[in-house]
Amino acid sequence: MTQLESFAANSWEARDLRSMLHGFSHLGTLQENGPVVITQGEGIYVQDVHGKRYLEGNSGLWNMVLGFDHPGLIEAACAQIRKFPAYHTFFGRVSEPSVALAEKMIQIAPRPMGKVFFTNSGSEANDTVVKMLWMINRGAGRPDCRKILSRRNAYHGVTGLTASMTGKDYVGAFGLPLDGFLFADCPHHWRFAAEGESELQFSARCAANLDAQIQAEGPETIAGFFAEPVMGAGGVIPPAEGYFQAIQPVLKKYGIPLVADEVICGFGRTGQLWGSQTYGIEPDIIVASKCMTAGYFPMGAVLVSDAVHDKLVAAAEAYEEFPHGFTTAGHPVGCAIALKAIDIILNEGAFDNVVEVSPYFQEHLCRFQSHPFIGEARGVGLMGALEIVNDKEKKTPFPPEQPVAEQIANVALENGLICRPVGQAIVVAPPFIITKEQIDELFDKLTLTIEKVLGAKA
Ligand SMILES: Cc1ncc(COP(=O)(O)O)c(C=O)c1O
Repeated sequence: MTQLESFAANSWEARDLRSMLHGFSHLGTLQENGPVVITQGEGIYVQDVHGKRYLEGNSGLWNMVLGFDHPGLIEAACAQIRKFPAYHTFFGRVSEPSVALAEKMIQIAPRPMGKVFFTNSGSEANDTVVKMLWMINRGAGRPDCRKILSRRNAYHGVTGLTASMTGKDYVGAFGLPLDGFLFADCPHHWRFAAEGESELQFSARCAANLDAQIQAEGPETIAGFFAEPVMGAGGVIPPAEGYFQAIQPVLKKYGIPLVADEVICGFGRTGQLWGSQTYGIEPDIIVASKCMTAGYFPMGAVLVSDAVHDKLVAAAEAYEEFPHGFTTAGHPVGCAIALKAIDIILNEGAFDNVVEVSPYFQEHLCRFQSHPFIGEARGVGLMGALEIVNDKEKKTPFPPEQPVAEQIANVALENGLICRPVGQAIVVAPPFIITKEQIDELFDKLTLTIEKVLGAKA
């Protein structure tokens, strides 16, 4: 009997299986197991349609950082929808909340930034940056300066361009990456360092390789370098020590703009407001999304320096406009929610809480390092991953027919915890409002789960 048959015909699960196509879900096992239908939330917990409660250990998709029932966010949305429920930003039109949010973003940016361009998602924001860079270079008489550099294992989104910057094998399913999208080293010391190589030596090697790659491609053909401060969907990979300090001079030497993809790290995840601050990154362009609205509205943003903006204005002369934009971007309701979310993060204690509880979270995480099947416990701020290995010394993963991370995520669900498998790592990134007691609860559930699946004590 398939799950579809085992669910009541009018259940939400059966209706889902009959009607919905899910992204980033194993379509075969989904048909077997059915979806988890979530109906409501309270603080950092969500509840499914059967009344089972889960601690949301991933803040949804990293973004629902203020919990699932925040009265301030709900009120901000309702107030704006009553006042002026919809408008756009084309043809020089705009609504008040969009302007106020652009000002706020510039005010809190980690570096002096000149202008903000709104989108509906992180993918759209990164996609926008690529087009901006291409347009600037064409406008400046350098039409061949189009190549985009990112890193192996990076995640920058799902549009044609941003999937092309995503350094994962699955983009091959679409015949991507497009030509001219190149990948530099992944800065994961544990996985890629040579025997005995220190983090600093490894970072220096990444920088030397980058320099050689740029030389080989022709520095004048490279339009930009994209980097997440911490690789998120790659499995929470903080950069090796000194990594950005080593690669930034290389990019500067060739005048290649650095784009910080702060979609996950922005607004506090790493323990500073921006990942760029945590790692000393000096971006020319910043991409933000996710926590900006605490997940209560789709939203993304591109922040550009004055210098970048001036070049874009010059390039736009020939077309009399910047021929790019999204119908619902800069939506007044989304912007009102974002203004409130940022206020709650900055002024109502959410960011202070991240700073306070992060060391406690990391302590808990690090305890797993002694587990015989955990090769690396890594993280920063309120994000972490446990890399499961079959052989700790050789760092070899379990064979594909034993998808242990997937199994752990499934058993965690039974134990009332939502966590996420990424390859053979288990990722946790709880909401910013999590308390120390709830961190205990998260790791108690995770320990129980790991013991059940891997059969050994942490
Ligand atoms: C670093 C990074 N960039 C871009 C994206 C794409 O954002 P979206 O899913 O909103 O398109 C994500 C999504 O997880 C991300 O983690």
